[in-house]
Amino acid sequence: MHEIPVLPGDGIGPEIIDEGKKVIEAAADVHNFNIKWKEYPYGADHYLETGETIPEHALKELSKYDAIYLGGLGDPRVEPGVLEKGILLKLRFYFDQYVNLRPIKLLPGADCPLKNPGDIDFVVLRENTEDFYVGVGGRAEKGKSQKTLEIERELYNLKFDLDIESDSEEIAYQLGVITQEGAERIIEYAFDYAEKTNRERVTGVDKANVLSDIYGFWREILEETSSKYPDIEHEYNYVDAATMWFVKNPEWYQVVVTPNMFGDIITDLGAMIQGGLGLAPGGNINPNGTSMFEPIHGTAPKHAGKNKVNPIATIWSGALMLRHINEDKAADTIIKAISETVENGKTLTYDMGGNAGTDEVGTEIARRIHENG
Ligand code: IPM
Ligand code: MN
Repeated sequence: MHEIPVLPGDGIGPEIIDEGKKVIEAAADVHNFNIKWKEYPYGADHYLETGETIPEHALKELSKYDAIYLGGLGDPRVEPGVLEKGILLKLRFYFDQYVNLRPIKLLPGADCPLKNPGDIDFVVLRENTEDFYVGVGGRAEKGKSQKTLEIERELYNLKFDLDIESDSEEIAYQLGVITQEGAERIIEYAFDYAEKTNRERVTGVDKANVLSDIYGFWREILEETSSKYPDIEHEYNYVDAATMWFVKNPEWYQVVVTPNMFGDIITDLGAMIQGGLGLAPGGNINPNGTSMFEPIHGTAPKHAGKNKVNPIATIWSGALMLRHINEDKAADTIIKAISETVENGKTLTYDMGGNAGTDEVGTEIARRIHENG
C-alpha cells in the first residue's frame, strides 16, 4: 500500500490529476498493490478564501511521504508569483528537491515540429534549489544606490556586499547563487543517472563565458566530479548554443545537467521537440526526502473545466512517481500504454490533432493497461 498526497491545484490541474489517478490505479490493480490518495486543497481557491498559500503544518505533514502528486499552480485571479512562489517553489525548496528530472522523449506518432527528427530520447536534470531562484534581490532608489546594499539571505545565511554605482532613478538587482554542495549533488546525480541508465555522455549546459563567476564555478565542479566517472564522457555547451543544437541535432543528447534558470528555459524547448507541452512530464526529486511529480506545463486557465486538455504529461509524471517509489513494473506499464495510445492516434486531445476529451484519453490509457495485463 502506498499513501500519496495529491495537490490538484489550479486551472486544469484537477481534471488532469483525475486522469493521472485513474491510470495509476489501473497500473496498481494490474500489479497487485493499492494506492490511497490524500487530497490537499492548496491553490488559488484556498488562497482567495483564506489568504493562506500553504501552511507550515501542511508542509510538516507532507514531509512524512515519499512522493506528492501535483497538478499545477497559478491562476489569473491571483497576482502572478504568489502561488508559484508561495506554493510551488515553496514545496521544492522546503523539501530540498534539488533534482528536477525532465525526460525529453519523442514517442512514435507524436508530432514533432522538426523536419527530420532522429531518435530524440534524453533527460534534462535541472538543478532545482539555487541559481536565480533563491529569491535574493531588491530595488534601490537614487541616492541610496551609491551606498552598500547589504543583503542577508535566510536559506544559506550568505552575506553579500554590493557596491552599485548608478545615476539612474532606480536600480533592480537579483542574485544567482551556486554553492559547492548544491552543484556537486545535482552533477553527481547526473553522472549516476547516466551510469544507471546506460548512457555514455553527460552534457553540462551553462554560460561560463559571460557569467563566469557563477557558472565558471559550476563548470569547475562538473569537471572535478567527472573524474569520478571515467566511463562516462562529458562535454559543455553554452546555453545559447544548446538551444540551437536542441533544434538541429537533438538526438545527440543523452543526459543534460544545468543550473535552475537555464533548465527552466531549455525544458520548454525540450517539451516542444517531443511533441508539445501536453506530453512533457517532470519530477522534483529529493532522493532522501519528499519528492513531487508534476507536468512541465502550467494551469491553462482558459481551458479549465472544459475536458479538453491533454492529460498525458500528468499521467507520465505519475509513471515517474511510481518508478520513484520502486513500482518500476507499474511505471513501465503506464509508459507502454501511453506510447500505444499515441501511436494508435485515435484517442488523443485537440493539441495532438484529435478530438477526444481529457477523460477519454485517461480511460483509453487505463483500458490498455488492463488489456496488456
Ligand atoms: C516550471 C515553471 C516554474 C519554474 C514556475 C511556475 C515557478 O515554469 O516548473 O518550469 O519556473 O520553475
Ligand atoms: Mn518552466
